[in-house]
Amino acid sequence: MSNTFDCLTENTGLLDHWYAVGLSKEINKKPLSVELLNSRYVIWRDRKGSLVAANELCSHRQMPLTEGHIDEGCLRCPYHGWLFGERGECKEIPSASPDLPIPSKAHLNTFNTIEKYGLVWLSPGEPKKPLFEIEQDNDSSFRRINTEIQSWEVAATRMVDNFLDITHFPFVHTGTFGSVQEKESPPIELKELDEYFFGYEYDVLAANPGEAKSVSGSEEEVVSRFMTTGFNLPFNVRSTIAYESGLQHIILLLSTPIDEINSYFTFVVWRNDDFQIPEEEIISFDRAIGEEDRVMLERLSGSMPLGQTDLANVKADKASVEWKRQFVEMING
Ligand code: FES
Ligand SMILES: [Fe+2]
Repeated sequence: MSNTFDCLTENTGLLDHWYAVGLSKEINKKPLSVELLNSRYVIWRDRKGSLVAANELCSHRQMPLTEGHIDEGCLRCPYHGWLFGERGECKEIPSASPDLPIPSKAHLNTFNTIEKYGLVWLSPGEPKKPLFEIEQDNDSSFRRINTEIQSWEVAATRMVDNFLDITHFPFVHTGTFGSVQEKESPPIELKELDEYFFGYEYDVLAANPGEAKSVSGSEEEVVSRFMTTGFNLPFNVRSTIAYESGLQHIILLLSTPIDEINSYFTFVVWRNDDFQIPEEEIISFDRAIGEEDRVMLERLSGSMPLGQTDLANVKADKASVEWKRQFVEMING
C-alpha cells in the first residue's frame, strides 16, 4: 500500500491542536519567529504581558514582523512603521492622515496561544480540548526544568514513533543509559496511564555511568527503573521513571511539525529530588540522550508511512502502531 499521507502537514485535522513553539522566557523585549505546519507566525507580549500571535508577514508589503520592535505592547513594522495591537488590529499608519479610516485588510489574523510548563503553545486552529495536565507541575515536592527548543531535520511522526519505542535503547543509547538493557522487549500491555496519556508500563535496567549518577541519585553502575511511556495526540510523549530510592524523573518529549521533514524538539523534566543538583547537570544527561535520537533519526528521510501495513511491525512496536492508528483516525476526523 502506498503512503496516502504525502502532505501530512497540510492536513486540516492537525490545525485544532496545541503545539509547543517556544520558551516563555524567550518572549520578552523581542518578538519570536515561529514556523508551524508550513506557516510562519510572530509572537509578542502586549502591555499586560499576555501573548499575541499573528501571521508573520506584514499586511502592507509582507515585511516579516519578527524584524519589528515592540512599542508599548504593540508591534511596529520596521518597513513603513505600521503599528499592530493586541488583537492584531492595525492601529496606526504613519503615511496616512489619522482622520482616514484604516483599511480592514490592514489588520492581522491572530491565533490562540497559552503558556504552560514554561513553554509557549500555539494553535493554528480552534483546539477541541485543553492541553493535558502534568500533575507534578502543581506538586511542590517536584521541580520543573526546561531546556532550549531545537530544530531537527526529522518528521514529527518519526519522532513520536521513536519516543514510544524502547527497543532502540540498547542500540542507540549505548553512550548514555542503554548498554545494559535486555534486547528482548518486555511484554507490552497498552492502557490508559491517566486521563491524558495512553501507553505502557515496564521495568528496565539502565547503565548508570559517571554523569548519570547525580541524575539517578544512585552510586550503582546499573540501576533498575520502573517506567511508563505514553502518548497524547497528536505528538506529545511522556516517559516517567521511578527509581527504587523513590526518586521520580518525568520527561515530556515534545515534537512540533515545522513542515513535512523538519520539527521543533524540546523536553521538560519534573523531579522530586532535593533540588541540590544544578539544573544544567540534570538536563545535560537528558540532552545527550536526545542527541543520540536526533543523530539516528536524521538518517531517515521523509515522513513516516502511516498506512497500518506499510512497514513491518513486531509486538514490541505495539505502542507506536497504536499511536499511528489513533493519529490517523484523528486526522481523518
Ligand atoms: S511592510 Fe510593514 S509597514 Fe510596510
Ligand atoms: Fe531514544
